[in-house]
Parts: sequence; structure tokens; C-alpha cells
Amino acid sequence: MTMRLAAAELVESREILPGQWLQAYHAPTIASGSRAGQFVHVRTGDFSGMVLRRPFSVNTADLATGVITIHFRVIGRGTEWFTRLRAGDEIDLLGPLGRPFEVDPRSRHLLLVAGGLGMAGVRMLADEAIRDGRQVTLLFGAASSREVYPSSLLPDEIEYVVATDDGSLGHHGFVTDLVPEYEAWADQAFACGPSAMLAALARQAEGRRGRLGVASLGRKRGGGRGDPAGSPAARRKAFLQVSMEQNMGCAVGACLGCVVMSTSGVPQRVCREGPVFAAEELVWEGAWS
Ligand code: FES
Repeated sequence: MTMRLAAAELVESREILPGQWLQAYHAPTIASGSRAGQFVHVRTGDFSGMVLRRPFSVNTADLATGVITIHFRVIGRGTEWFTRLRAGDEIDLLGPLGRPFEVDPRSRHLLLVAGGLGMAGVRMLADEAIRDGRQVTLLFGAASSREVYPSSLLPDEIEYVVATDDGSLGHHGFVTDLVPEYEAWADQAFACGPSAMLAALARQAEGRRGRLGVASLGRKRGGGRGDPAGSPAARRKAFLQVSMEQNMGCAVGACLGCVVMSTSGVPQRVCREGPVFAAEELVWEGAWS
């Protein structure tokens, strides 16, 4: 992994949903080095006593222009400060950080599942998958139509299916309700969102093999043995990969402020071993919060 501290110049900033912003930064080294699932950490120093250190998923990366985008919700003074930046202003970004999604080369059909701001975690994977000639269905859940990510900001080639808690747009209910319809179609699934959503998806994924009565990608390849848990090869064979949204301190593996528990009992740092994990690597009990 090549991570760099790069000066990033704001190109465009706009509020795409109430309190949610999309910002484009010119940061060619990060744009060219990032894979879907990775993130950047803002290393901009002191602004009137406020140190800005925040992780953002790389939402899109355009190799031709060297521009990356980030998508965030204003939740405090730090993020509020970002919204006051103007085109031409510079911030320092460290990245790309973390480990990316692992797509099996044989996967033709990718199911992406996002809840709310979790869109930022899977958005870039849609671009990568389309570029690689795969079919993508993106299931998106939000509280209401006011918080539904605009389809105009997504590639035309994907199927975009929306669920809202209050039924104001699309399916009335949780986004996880929509998954069974796609579980036979999908070769792999990739998700980002609230921990309760991810835990529900992990439970659904566990029973999938039995319900479909088919061999998994891993079995076809020799029982899935031999690839250590957490290795790129093991993750490629997993049906479900999740991108964890965790509070971070250092973002480079030193502070242990971001750990989640693995089924093998070894704490995993979201910033280093993640933010992407195979769902089966993690302990999900107690993830309801
Ligand atoms: S944020 Fe410091 S170890 Fe992950």
C-alpha cells in the first residue's frame, strides 16, 4: 500500500441532500492509487483551536482528472468547517488508507447494499464494477425520501432500488427486506451502513448457501481451505463483504481506537485490517446499537 500525504484542492462543493455534502478535490496521487473501499484521512491542522482529523471513504476517483469526491453529513463543528471551504482552498489528505473490497474475477453480478451515509462506502465499487463489465444492483435504505441518494449521481448502468422506513419512496421497510429477491442472482454482496443493518445482512448471508443449495465460489475452488481468514483470497471467496463505519483516532493502526472483534478472538483494527471485512470474519452479536 502506498499512502501519501497530499495537498488536495477543493474543486466543487455542494449540498446534495439536507445536511449532506458532496465535495470534489483535486488529488491525483490519491485518485490514481485508490481502490473501492479505501478511505482518506484529513490531516489538516489547527483552525481556531480545532484539529480536523476525520476519515472519509473515497466516494469516487477519476483517473483522468485526478479528482476524488467525499460524501459526508454535517454532524459537528469539524464537518461544518468543511462546508465553508471554497473552490481553490487546500486541505491535507492522507491516503489511500485501509483495505479495499475484493471482487472475485468470476463474479458477474454484484449486489451492493447501502444504508444512509453508507452509500459513500460502496459508491466507488459501482464504478469499478461497471468499468469491469459486471452487472450491479444497488439497494439503498433511508429513513424517508428526503434522505434518498439522488439517482442522477449514480452510473446509468446500475439497477437502483430504494427502501424507506416511512414508505415515502420505494419499498416501505428496511433495505434488508429486499435482499432475498437478489440472493440467487448475486455472486457477491458488498455493504456499508449502520451496524444493525450489517448484522442483519451477515445473518442472511450465513443461511444463503443452504437455501440456494449450490456450491459457493469458495467450494468450487477447493473448499475454501488454505486461505487465511482476512487474506484477500479468503475475502474474495466470501459472499458478503462489509465496510465498517467506525470512529477513528490515528487512522494508521497505532491508537487501537477503532477495533472490532473477529470470530477468532483477535481484535481487528478497522483502519488497517479493514475498513472492509468478510462478514464471516467478525462477531456480530451485540452489534445492535
Ligand atoms: S484509528 Fe488508530 S488504530 Fe485504527
